[in-house]
Amino acid sequence: MLRQFGSRALLGGALVLAVAPTRAADIAAGKEKAEMCVGCHGENGISQMENIPSLAGQLDQFVQWQLVFFRAGARKNEQMQPIVEQLNNEDIRNLGAYFASLTPPKGPKDDDPDLSAKGKQAAAGRRCASCHTDTYVGTKAVARLAGQREEYLVKALHDYKSGVRSGGAQAVMADVAYPLSEEEITALAHYLAHL
Ligand code: HEC
Ligand code: HEC
Repeated sequence: MLRQFGSRALLGGALVLAVAPTRAADIAAGKEKAEMCVGCHGENGISQMENIPSLAGQLDQFVQWQLVFFRAGARKNEQMQPIVEQLNNEDIRNLGAYFASLTPPKGPKDDDPDLSAKGKQAAAGRRCASCHTDTYVGTKAVARLAGQREEYLVKALHDYKSGVRSGGAQAVMADVAYPLSEEEITALAHYLAHL
């Protein structure tokens, strides 16, 4: 009796596992769910609000991981907390696919090319492209940085530097950001925001 029940339960579990990873993300369902996000992250995932990142064209895996980090409390933000509490794994998968499918923001016209040149130099010296790719569009769980809001990039680098945010992938960004000077952070954010 017990054994039979056990093997049935096991079979049920195996079926769920076999089905879940192969089910494709549903972009249309992600778009519908993303109505919860528009008020802050903007129409079509382009943020018009200070300290709120654009999500358009952000990497599918990166978006999914950040939502999981928020939900688990590993990344903390008062505004995101009540949102992620309402998301299940399927929502997260669909939202990742939806935002990745949107046209990424284009950096505004560069109002300080000298600062961008400094940022470009700092990025080369710190080997930022070795993970974020040469065009800073990111890959997998490594964020897209090109065209992101400048003040949000400054905030993110400060959060890693101070340890407020540790991130995934062995917390590499904490190590990367720790030695950055204020001048470097300002220049890097300006350079990347205008790509
Ligand atoms: C009330 C405003 C608000 C709403 C609504 C909101 N967000 Fe956010 N979101 C934020 C803020 C603020 C941050 C930046 C957090 C930080 O500084 O660490 C953020 C960060 C994020 C990030 C991390 C992006 C990055 O580049 O690090 C993701 C992913 C995200 N939100 C997804 C969503 C999704 C998906 C929804 C809708 C289901 C949503 N958010 C709704 C305010 C909001
Ligand atoms: C060893 C690989 C690696 C290197 C080198 C690296 N990064 Fe990152 N970066 C990552 C990963 C992985 C993430 C996602 C971390 C997380 O989950 O929070 C990230 C995230 C970020 C974010 C947050 C983006 C967002 O939308 O929230 C910023 C900003 C950033 N990196 C800037 C930089 C800059 C500037 C440099 C060079 C000074 C750099 N990175 C070098 C791997 C790297």
